[in-house]
Amino acid sequence: MNVRITGTGSSLPGKILTNADLEQLVDTSDDWITSRTGIKERRIAAEGEYTSTFAAEAARRAMAMAGVQPDEIDLIILSTVTPDFPFPSTACIVQDILGATNATAFDLSAACSGFIYGLSVAEKYLRSGAARKILVIGSETLSRIVDWQDRNTCVLFGDGAGAVVLEASDGGHSLLSTHTFSNGSFWNLLYQPGSGSRNPASDPRTFDKKLLYITMEGNDVFKHAVRSMEEAAVKALETNSLSPDDISLLIPHQANRRIIDATAKRLGVSSDRMFTNLELYGNTSSASIPIALDEANLQGRLKAGDKALLVAFGGGFTYGSALIEW
Ligand code: UT7
Repeated sequence: MNVRITGTGSSLPGKILTNADLEQLVDTSDDWITSRTGIKERRIAAEGEYTSTFAAEAARRAMAMAGVQPDEIDLIILSTVTPDFPFPSTACIVQDILGATNATAFDLSAACSGFIYGLSVAEKYLRSGAARKILVIGSETLSRIVDWQDRNTCVLFGDGAGAVVLEASDGGHSLLSTHTFSNGSFWNLLYQPGSGSRNPASDPRTFDKKLLYITMEGNDVFKHAVRSMEEAAVKALETNSLSPDDISLLIPHQANRRIIDATAKRLGVSSDRMFTNLELYGNTSSASIPIALDEANLQGRLKAGDKALLVAFGGGFTYGSALIEW
């Protein structure tokens, strides 16, 4: 059974927050942010815009490209760490917005690797015949869980969504393989301490101790990210009997330019074959890879027969890769 990507889409808030804007909020500089991360600006959701807002719009665009109607969708998998509500799932809200009345819908939690995990789950549904048309969406409103007084984290993140339509079909771009990995030993190096059952939002101490915000040991995460993304990428290459030279475009999770450069260098993929857009959007967690894939597609960066290697790393730790033949 062939598993194909038949449509891509993305959606970003209109509001831009530049490094110069951040200089007014915290003790930072454009020079520090640019040299340490590569980020120049990020998009921030306006009042009345939520994770479901961007997810639904990205999904609409992907379905339009695929020529698929909402009632043809069998399954909606939405990856997010910033759902509209703890429950119901944001996927169900998106199902309602789209009118995808025949779909089963659920959210998936794998932080920045969530889109790759979503592809992997969707691939299994399609290969087993349990579904024929699936929406996989990564959508985040990280600006709502960022401490805007913490310069260590507030300069890094942004909002937005990306989506793909996956089909068991003959037309479209082949999903050749997906691989997912988890290492729960490091769950507390990148997480949101509050709002779950350990530090409930209903306890005033959760708010007072600032537990509702993203907490990260940046240096440790950095080192693990480079090693793990290399491991996931090598697994994809080995599985498909490919060498780094066969990869036309590397589309890594967009967290830090230095992580991307180091990963590409370790793999032996030259910078002209590396897709980055983090200078414009920052780290949008699970939305970063589908947004980048959609932009690469719309910019004509992928030609028929090209191999695109998607590779992600995130909180959990989680990591993974997907290989697509365009
Ligand atoms: O998406 C999931 C995965 N996430 C990631 O992959 C993120 C991984 N980590 C990183 O990208 C980097 O570790 C950061 C960008 C978060 C930080 O870069 P770094 O080179 O590791 O810097 P650092 O944390 O070692 O901090 C260096 C210095 C510190 O000052 P002192 O202690 O040396 O005086 C920080 O306080 O830079 C300071 N600093 C800042 N200075 C100006 C931290 N943030 C800022 C800032 N502006 N925004």
